[in-house]
Amino acid sequence: MKLCVIEGDGIGKEVVTVAVGVLEALLPDLELRFAEAGWETFQRQGAALPGATLECARECGAVFFGAVSSPMRLVEGYRSPIVQLRRELGCHANLRPTLSLPLSICRQGVDLIIVRENTEDLYVGDEQSDGEVALAIKRITRTASLRVARSAFELASHAGRRRVTIIHKANILPRTDGLFRDCAREVAAEYPGIQVDEMLVDTAAMRLVQAPESFDVLLAPNLYGDILSDLAAAFGGGLGLAASLNLGERAAIAEPVHGSAPDIAGKGIANPLAAILSAAMLLRVWWRRDDLAARVEAAVRQTLQDGVATPDILTPGVGTQHVARAVMERLTG
Ligand code: NAI
Ligand code: MG
Repeated sequence: MKLCVIEGDGIGKEVVTVAVGVLEALLPDLELRFAEAGWETFQRQGAALPGATLECARECGAVFFGAVSSPMRLVEGYRSPIVQLRRELGCHANLRPTLSLPLSICRQGVDLIIVRENTEDLYVGDEQSDGEVALAIKRITRTASLRVARSAFELASHAGRRRVTIIHKANILPRTDGLFRDCAREVAAEYPGIQVDEMLVDTAAMRLVQAPESFDVLLAPNLYGDILSDLAAAFGGGLGLAASLNLGERAAIAEPVHGSAPDIAGKGIANPLAAILSAAMLLRVWWRRDDLAARVEAAVRQTLQDGVATPDILTPGVGTQHVARAVMERLTG
């Protein structure tokens, strides 16, 4: 069992160490390989995602990615390493769960997961403009739609979830969103044990605000999935708790949703729970260790219930290492 560890920049380094420590405690056979990516790497080596890092990630299959800083201006030769890594490893689905935790800042009773197509839709970035008319290509393919739908239904059946809601806007976009929906229906037919329904994306946004607890798995094309998953993350306590997994056939990248947080980097107060919960996703979805993932989630829940949390969650709050020790004690004690 191998894990490619990419700490990245800023708080990436601080939270990855903690999450990887949790995995090491649970998987005695885990072999760690450390690789570099990000802004600091770019400044040192002239590449944000060096070839050696890509090779390491391919070889391991499982990757843990912290966070990287991206310049807010155009820098010649710099490309976002995480976007490149997802594409190079063929991680076609982005899994974003929202789970209620025992905190006043969380909406209670929510346990949903958004499965977002990760490779196409308007995000192919194919735009044109003559100053009067601007156009963007919305690319939807049968291959990518079937692939992400299969990931959603596989996840639902392995995770014991009951229902998949297909999100689209096929009333206005019958060719593109219609194709996405038809592919999802086609895959759904192979999973008779799982209920399927459909919802227009605007209705879904309203329902998510009104009754997030009524959703289970949401399957969405790239753009709708991006927007709805940020909306849903607000119910789960925000960035310090938001976990994600990029999933493909040959690789998976665990990645907390947050960035490198330069405003708090080096202060020892970054919330490590988003990274720890991303590690739990790697355990459940990639390594099929539902038992271990459930233990990690229970330890996180207990830690919060006992009032141990960083300042983004609680005032005054404690440091990263304090939370890390508390989780570890509840996990192994
Ligand atoms: P950010 O997620 O780094 O920070 C937003 C706010 O949330 C900040 O106030 C930060 O202190 C707080 N925050 C984030 N994670 C936290 C944690 N674990 N514990 C406590 N507080 C936390 O987003 P921002 O500020 O927009 O971007 C900063 C840098 O990160 C930029 O260079 C951006 O390009 C990069 N970024 C990288 C991502 C990635 O590597 N996947 C994703 C998002 C941003
Ligand atoms: Mg987003």
